[in-house]
Amino acid sequence: MESGLKYLSNEVYSDPRVHWLDNPDIRPYVYKRKQFRIENPGQRFSGNKLTWFDKEPIVKNPQNMDEVDFTDQILRLENKVFDKINLSMPRWVFYDCAIMPGIIVGYAIKKKSASAKILQIVEPQPHSEWVPLSLFIIIPTLVPGEWVAHNLSSINSALSEPERFYGLGFISKAFGLWYANIEVCCGMTQWTSPAIKLHSHYGDMEILTAYTPAHTYAQTLTYRVKVSAESWPCFFAKDSPLHFHSKYRATALEVDRKDDKSLLRLQRLLERGEERYFLSAAEINSQPLDSKLKIYHPI
Ligand SMILES: CC(C)(COP(=O)(O)OP(=O)(O)OC[C@H]1O[C@@H](n2cnc3c(N)ncnc32)[C@H](O)[C@@H]1OP(=O)(O)O)[C@@H](O)C(=O)NCCC(=O)NCCS
Repeated sequence: MESGLKYLSNEVYSDPRVHWLDNPDIRPYVYKRKQFRIENPGQRFSGNKLTWFDKEPIVKNPQNMDEVDFTDQILRLENKVFDKINLSMPRWVFYDCAIMPGIIVGYAIKKKSASAKILQIVEPQPHSEWVPLSLFIIIPTLVPGEWVAHNLSSINSALSEPERFYGLGFISKAFGLWYANIEVCCGMTQWTSPAIKLHSHYGDMEILTAYTPAHTYAQTLTYRVKVSAESWPCFFAKDSPLHFHSKYRATALEVDRKDDKSLLRLQRLLERGEERYFLSAAEINSQPLDSKLKIYHPI
C-alpha cells in the first residue's frame, strides 16, 4: 500500500516523508465561530483530485468557554515559534483579528499520542483530547474571493529533526486554502524568512510591496497568489511550478533581499503601478534564504 503524501493529477505523486498524514491520531481541525459556514469545503479544487484532505476535520468553536483550552494551546504554540522573531501574537489580536473575522485551521494530534516535548510546549489540560501541532489563520478581505493569510505556525520549528512532521507547515496552509475554497490569497512575510519557501508554492507569487515601513519589519514582502493546487506537489518534488516559464519572462531586475536600497528601488517601481512583478517559486526553493532573486513579468 502506498503511504505518505499522494497527489493524483495525471500522475501519482507520493512522498513517504509525509507519513504522519496517514496517522489516524492526527487530523485537520477547523476552529471557527458558529456563524461561519463554508459551503462545500474543497469544491474549488475538486478537479485536482487531491487526496491529502480526505480525513474529516475536527470542528471546534472558540467562543465556547469549554473549548478555551484549545485557544490556550494554540497561543502557547504560536508564542513559542514566533518569539524567536519577536512577532508573537497577543491574545486579544487572536480574538479580535482572527477568531472574529476569520477562521483558524491546522493539524492536531490526540493527546495520548503526543510526545513529551509537544505536551511541554502546548500544556494541554487533563481533559483535553486534541493537541494542536500547527495553525493557519485566514481572513476574508473586501475584495471578493480574496483572503489574507495572517499567521502560519508549525510545531516543527520547536522540535528536533527526528520528531518533526515533514511538510506540516506547508500542508496546514494548503488545507486552509482548500477548505475555504480560496481563489486569491495575500500575505506578508519577511524576505529572508524560511516561510517564503512555503508561501511561494500555492500559486504564482506576485509582489505587492517589497519594502513595507507600515509593518514592524520594513523588510516585509507583501504578496498575492492566485491559488492553484497544481503547484502544491512541486513544493515536495522541488520542481518548478507547472507552466511558470511559459507565463513569465525574467527581467533584467534582481532583488537583493538583504539590501534595503534594493528593496526600496523595487518598491518605488511597484508604486508606479506600470507593471506586475512576480517571483519564481523554484528559484526561492533552490537557493539560500539570503540569495538575490530574479524578477519576472507576465508574458
Ligand atoms: C515557517 C514554518 C511555518 C515552516 O513550517 P514547517 O512545518 O517547519 O515546514 P514544512 O515541514 O512544511 O516544510 C519544510 C520545508 O520548508 C523549508 N524550511 C522550513 N524551515 C526552514 C528553515 N529553518 N530554513 C530553511 N528552510 C526551511 C524547507 O524548504 C523545508 O524543506 P526541505 O527541508 O526539504 O528543504 C515554521 O518553521 C514556523 O512556524 N516558523 C516560525 C513562525 C514563522 O516564521 N511563520 C511564518 C511567518 S510568515
